[in-house]
Amino acid sequence: MAMLKSPLAFLVLAFFLCFIMSTGDGTYDYFQFVQQWPPTTCGVRGKPCSKPRLLQNFTIHGLWPSNYSNPTMPSNCNGSKFEARKVYPQLRSDLKISWPDVESGNDTKFWEGEWNKHGTCSEQILNQMQYFERSHAMWTSYNITKILKNASIVPSAKQKWKYSDILSPIKTATGRTPLLRCRTDPALRNVQFLHEVVFCYGYNALKQIDCNRTAGCKNQVDIVFK
Ligand SMILES: *[C@@H]1O[C@H](CO)[C@@H](O)[C@H](O)[C@H]1NC(C)=O
Ligand SMILES: *[C@@H]1O[C@H](CO)[C@@H](O)[C@H](O)[C@H]1NC(C)=O
Ligand SMILES: *[C@@H]1O[C@H](CO)[C@@H](O)[C@H](O)[C@H]1NC(C)=O
Ligand SMILES: *[C@@H]1O[C@H](CO)[C@@H](O)[C@H](O)[C@H]1NC(C)=O
Ligand SMILES: *[C@@H]1O[C@H](CO)[C@@H](O)[C@H](O)[C@H]1NC(C)=O
Ligand SMILES: *[C@@H]1O[C@H](CO)[C@@H](O)[C@H](O)[C@H]1NC(C)=O
Ligand SMILES: *[C@@H]1O[C@H](CO)[C@@H](O)[C@H](O)[C@H]1NC(C)=O
Repeated sequence: MAMLKSPLAFLVLAFFLCFIMSTGDGTYDYFQFVQQWPPTTCGVRGKPCSKPRLLQNFTIHGLWPSNYSNPTMPSNCNGSKFEARKVYPQLRSDLKISWPDVESGNDTKFWEGEWNKHGTCSEQILNQMQYFERSHAMWTSYNITKILKNASIVPSAKQKWKYSDILSPIKTATGRTPLLRCRTDPALRNVQFLHEVVFCYGYNALKQIDCNRTAGCKNQVDIVFK
């Protein structure tokens, strides 16, 4: 009997734990603040962007509550849905520069998607207005385009870099280790394209911390920035 009972108890417990975890909305450890290089976003997309090659600035992709133990980010949590009116006029004009939708050109739709998918998971720390204000402030705090330019890392069709070449000037400027994310083109096996730079922030989205995930670009493959 005891032999039967304990696996059953285990199953009940396991089920209960799963239940708690799946409804555990808004559980995260830190934030990933992701900025993208629009020409790469558009280049790997398969169809043209609404404003191709216009933007030669790193712009915001999103602010993502993330989990150390679970690489699948919490998403679509049970928070309040996006409300465009909470992006008041001044914030709106700021975000139009820092957080444009480079793909289809509907900025509001991009913000809506990011809030509903990610922002809802940290609403206990940042309400919708704060989520967008904080993201814009993060974007303003360091100009990645400028940091790279200062290190002579500028868009080039020919030049190739190592991961550490690009990492090091950003790390020097911010005092924190970022994460670089790359995209590959199936036709070009020996290179990858710099796509995104991730800054990590602590639970309150105030203090920048070192990113310690490493799977953003392929190891030992040269990086093209164009
Ligand atoms: C995320 O991390 C927190 C704190 O470490 C943990 O309690 C929670 O269960 C994790 N959530 C998921 C979905 O893994
Ligand atoms: C980059 O952003 C700055 C600041 O908003 C803007 O003045 C500039 O025109 C942008 N440059 C390009 C090439 O998009
Ligand atoms: C989600 O939120 C709604 C409204 O705030 C609430 O009624 C519902 O019980 C919540 N669901 C879960 C699983 O927490
Ligand atoms: C842009 O997206 C918003 C939010 O999804 C939507 O309400 C609006 O109609 C869209 N605008 C256009 C021009 O498609
Ligand atoms: C960031 O730096 C780039 C390159 O120096 C510059 O074109 C851009 O205007 C800067 N962006 C802001 C917001 O100052
Ligand atoms: C620019 O580069 C110099 C050295 O090449 C470095 O000392 C300086 O910190 C850099 N400035 C910025 C803002 O990255
Ligand atoms: C990253 O840092 C956090 C917090 O210090 C730690 O809990 C986690 O185990 C680290 N992950 C890796 C892969 O080093």
